[in-house]
Formats: sequence, structure tokens, C-alpha cells
Amino acid sequence: MKKKWWHDKVAYQIYPKSFCDTNGDGIGDLRGIISKLDYLKELGIDIIWLSPIYKSPFVDQGYDIADYYAIAEEFGTMDEFDELLAEAKKRDMYIIMDLVINHCSSQHEWFQKALADPDGEYADYFYFRKGKNGNPPSNYRSYFGGSCWEPVPGTDKFYFHMFAKEQPDLNWENPKLRQELYKMINWWLDKGLAGFRIDAIINIKKNLAFPDFEPDGTDGLASCWKMVESVDGVGELLEDLKKNTFQKQDAFTVGEVFNMKEGELPQFIGEEGHFSTIFDFSAHSLSDGEHGWYDAPSVDFKKWRETIINSQMEVQKSGFEANIIENHDEPRGVSRFLPEYARTPAGTKMLGTISVLLRGIPFIYQGQEIGMQNAVWNSIDEFDDISTKDQYHIARKAGLSNEEALEVCAKMSRDNARTPMQWSSKENAGFTTGMPWLKVNSNYKEINVKSQEKDADSVLNYYRKLVKVRKSPEYKEVFTYGQFEPAYEDTDSIMAYYRFDGEKRVLVVANFGKEAVELELQYPVKNIILSNRDRKKAERTLQLDGLEVIVLECS
Ligand code: GLC
Ligand code: CA
Repeated sequence: MKKKWWHDKVAYQIYPKSFCDTNGDGIGDLRGIISKLDYLKELGIDIIWLSPIYKSPFVDQGYDIADYYAIAEEFGTMDEFDELLAEAKKRDMYIIMDLVINHCSSQHEWFQKALADPDGEYADYFYFRKGKNGNPPSNYRSYFGGSCWEPVPGTDKFYFHMFAKEQPDLNWENPKLRQELYKMINWWLDKGLAGFRIDAIINIKKNLAFPDFEPDGTDGLASCWKMVESVDGVGELLEDLKKNTFQKQDAFTVGEVFNMKEGELPQFIGEEGHFSTIFDFSAHSLSDGEHGWYDAPSVDFKKWRETIINSQMEVQKSGFEANIIENHDEPRGVSRFLPEYARTPAGTKMLGTISVLLRGIPFIYQGQEIGMQNAVWNSIDEFDDISTKDQYHIARKAGLSNEEALEVCAKMSRDNARTPMQWSSKENAGFTTGMPWLKVNSNYKEINVKSQEKDADSVLNYYRKLVKVRKSPEYKEVFTYGQFEPAYEDTDSIMAYYRFDGEKRVLVVANFGKEAVELELQYPVKNIILSNRDRKKAERTLQLDGLEVIVLECS
């Protein structure tokens, strides 16, 4: 395999709005990010992914971009962004940005021009279609609920949007539009950006016939991803994008890809793939409900284990995936993947170890390194997220009571990941001196950076060790390029795997149960690399306590 500059890196996702506020307006900002670069460096981070910071009306928290060339005033200025790039570079760190090009904001100049002249050039930057006897052209439900089609005022046409109606989809069949996007991407890369996280990208290829599908909900609509799955040819668009942009600059790209077709993985992440890597969402998909969050199953340990193992085995045939336990669209990993008894510092370290030492690029989401958890939500009004509001209505329509619907949202809401970063036990968790845009998790006095920095045994200090081990001269090679092989798959409550190459063999083994488990090791122990309970000795017959994780070098 050809080695790439990003293979051995550890990445961190910042959700700027909730990271660190320096001017007291309750909104995180670029100055705040700059002020925390040393903190991230100490954690061992190489690549920082910034969720969108472009000019936006924030209907979907910046995933609705009104100007691809401008920084949102809320976050700061272009000069501050340039300063961030320079400060990151000084520390040998790389910045990647979110690239949201399936859609833009309805306030983008292109869309405004399209509305002003629905038969003109800019209308063809979007999908403007005639309705069927006054009804929308097809029966698709958008990802955020309601029809994918919105009337174009003063006409018999509708425009297409797979997310909110304020996020019109861009017409990728139009070469002129593509050129505009490529120009913009290259402009950012020329500035010194190391690459992009690429949003919702699988959706760019539409079935231009927009056929109706069998309704799959009480609203009589069909999920719009059915259209995505019904069409071929996204690969050609992605190659065109890559050749005109990323490839020329050796940029690092990580795609948000759902609904990939069987057997397509090598085309996405192989040596000549469309992207450097894509996120592994397989474990997260275990809690996809058939109709929404209200019928989302809880994650079962054995299924979770099997899913991760299968994914690792499959992916290593083609390339690398990016491993996460959470991001800004998901509830907190500790609250989701750990049973209640395991939502402790020990359990949190265990889950982190399993995730960070997998084969692939680890992405740590802000707050994960201190073990942030889901918040307690007392009313639907406390949420900001557009998709949470939609899911609440879906749950109510399906017959759940207010309380039940609230419970569903509390468990699954994206806002669980978006509550402000917990820096200290000071007011508002030290995130802001003003009024935070979204409420602070009430557990910030127990879980925060400042107190964990002082505690040698804290989750934060453990994450620092974990990342250090992964990148250490001794083990870097095996953790980056070593094969993955599952172990003890038949032992209840044990999640374990080997990472090995011609030189070294490492065993990562965790006991997700409450009770101790005895394991016969297959190989003699050479060295304890890491432990969440300061173990000094490991025998061939290993007694692994409940919630214990240990990383061993075998001989
Ligand atoms: C992606 C983003 C999500 C956003 C959506 C629409 O899934 O991660 O936050 O709402 O795309 O841009
Ligand atoms: Ca601010």
C-alpha cells in the first residue's frame, strides 16, 4: 500500500458554535478555537475538522451556506481564520473544513437569482420542476420531514430539497455549477487548508425522472433516500470532483457516505478511490428506527461487537475508514453504546480504547475526551435542532404522549452532542461569560477539562495516553498499518481484537460486563502497553475485571 501523509494521524472534530466563546455573545468563535490549539496539541491531535463556519442563516446550524467565500460574522473574520491556519501550521497541525455542496442556503445569491428568474440561467443551478396538477412532482419525504418539493412563488414549478426547505439542492448535472464549486474548493485549498469533510455527498446524484415510490409512512410519502438508491452514476460525479480539486493538492478528504451500494467500498476508499476515507457509521446504524427515532432500537452489545468486527474485516481489504463513537449528528457515545452501569470513567476509557485503536483514522469529537454524556432535557422547547423538532412530531403522530416523545428525543437528539464544551466548573462550564446559545449539560461540575487536568486518573489524561500510545514510535506502525483480527468473539461481554504485522502483535481486550471474566491468552505477554486500572502484571491466564480494558504486546 502506498503510504499517505494522513494515514497515521489522529483527528478531532470541533463544532465551533459550542466550543469556546471569547466575546461573551454565547456563541463559540474562531478566537476560541485559536485559544485551545495548545490543548488539542497536548491531546495529540494532528487534524482538526471544523463543522461549517461559512456565512449562513443557521437554519441547520451552518449546513445551509449563504456564501462559500465568507466566514460567518458570529464566528469571526477571514483574518482570524487565516490566523487560525497559521497558528495550526506552527504546531504541525492541519485544518480541514466541512464541504457542504449537495445544497446551499436559500439565501445564497444563486438561489435568490433563480427565484427572481425561474426560467433563467440560475434556475438550472437547482432542480426546478413543474408539478403534477398542482401537486409536487414526486412523493418524497425530506430527511427533516415534509415534502422534498417546495413551490416556486409565482410559478407552477417546485424546487427540490432533500433537507430543510431553506436548503435547496444544487444541480450537479449542470457543468457550470460544478465549475463554480471546483473554483471555490481550490480557493480554500490554495489558502492552506489540508482538505475537507464532505457532507451528505452521496445525495448529489439524482434520479432525474423523480419517480414516485411506495409510501412508507402515515404522511403518504416515501423516504427520499429511496431515490438515491435507485440511481447509478454518483461515481462519475465524484471522480470529476476529485480530479478537478483534491487530487491536484494531495488533500485529505473524508466523506459522509450513507446508502453506498454493495461492493462499492473500494471505489470510495481504495488507492484510487473517490475519497481518502469515509466514516464508519455501521455501529450507529444499529439504532436506525424503521419510521424514526421513536422506534429506534437500543444498541445490543453482541450486535455492536459483531458489526464493528465485520466492518473492520471488510474495510481492511480496500483501505481506511474513519472511526468515531460520536459526532455532531449523534447522541453521546457513552450514553448510547454503554449500559448504564458502565457510564463511569472506567467504562468511558474502555469504550475510547476500543475505538481509537481500531484500524483506521480515529476522529475524536469535542468533549469525548472528557467523557461528556447526553444531557437531561425537560421540555421540547429546550432543543434547537431542526431534526429533533421533526422527530418529536413524528413520534407524537405515531401515538406517543408528550412525555414519551420527549424521552425519545432526549435519547437520540443531535443536541446532545451540541451542548457547550465543558471547560471548567465555573458558570456555563467556562464556555461563555454570556448566555449560551444552547443549554449547558447540568453535569458540568463533575465532568470538565479543568478538574480532569489536575487528576492523573481522569478520562482526559487517559485519552492523552491513549493517543500517545497509538502514535508512539514503537507502536505507530502496527496501529496504523497492522491487520485487524477479532478475538474471544464467543466470550460474553468481551470485545477484543489483535493488531499485528510482521514485527508486532498487540491484543486490545475489554470486558463490557459487570463481573470479572477469566481468559486464556493465546500468546505470552511481553508488555502491558495501556490499562484503565494501572495494572502492573498480566498472566497468561488473565482475570479481567468488569469494565476493564488492557492493551498488551504479545510475544
Ligand atoms: C450532514 C450533516 C448534518 C446536516 C446534513 C445536511 O448529515 O452532518 O449536520 O444536517 O448533512 O447538511
Ligand atoms: Ca462568540
